[in-house]
Amino acid sequence: MQLAASIRELRKDYVLSGETVHALRGVSFDVPEGDYISIMGPSGSGKSTLLNLLGCLDRPTAGNFLLGPDDVARMTDDQLAETRATRIGFVFQSYNLLPALTVVENIEVPLYYSGRLTRESQQKCIELAELVGLGDRLDHRPMQLSGGQQQRVAIARSLVNDPRFMLADEPTGNLDSSTTEEILDLLARLNDEGRTIILVTHENEVAARTCRTIWLRDGEIMTDERK
Ligand SMILES: Nc1ncnc2c1ncn2[C@@H]1O[C@H](COP(=O)(O)OP(=O)(O)OP(=O)(O)O)[C@@H](O)[C@H]1O
Ligand SMILES: [Mg+2]
Repeated sequence: MQLAASIRELRKDYVLSGETVHALRGVSFDVPEGDYISIMGPSGSGKSTLLNLLGCLDRPTAGNFLLGPDDVARMTDDQLAETRATRIGFVFQSYNLLPALTVVENIEVPLYYSGRLTRESQQKCIELAELVGLGDRLDHRPMQLSGGQQQRVAIARSLVNDPRFMLADEPTGNLDSSTTEEILDLLARLNDEGRTIILVTHENEVAARTCRTIWLRDGEIMTDERK
């Protein structure tokens, strides 16, 4: 089976005013293409640290991370940025939308930064807004949207370069239960289309919608179970 990612003995230390925090202490697992994984564990167990490494937002202290066939440790900063922009979709708990921009403009932002904004790609952003159910909100600004709608804009934005690998750090953490279901329906659809998804959550109901749950504690994997 094709692997979307392979993680071996991944470690991350943070050094802060002379103190070293071992946020990840040697984490290993494989991610088959099309997998849908939840990462759970207590606060401070290293969930966001792991997701940030997988998202190429940060580099590990030690260990290996292959994204598809590519060794992320060997990438230059430019290659890392390119990988982030084109191969990985990242969704955060706080939607990180730009308040002055409309729904469509927010979805366009990654294209703008990577110099890929064309008339054609603008049309694609409208289609993405429609895909996430915001076809009738194209010109709204974030303030004029509900939390769930804002998260859907953030998800559409993460899809703009058609990544195969999606990461979400507590994507429903700020949402009520019915809006959470909407977002989970959307993620399930994206997974059905063959995208690999890894999400961090504190909620059992959210983890129940994924295929596999990895539990972290003190920077180590406690259990890794497929349903
Ligand atoms: N930039 C940083 N500098 C120093 N220490 C950090 C940094 N980021 C995280 N840590 C520490 O690393 C450990 C793991 O943090 P991490 O954010 O990965 O936890 P988490 O599992 O995502 O927690 P939460 O559920 O609260 O979001 C914590 O002890 C944290 O204090
Ligand atoms: Mg976290």
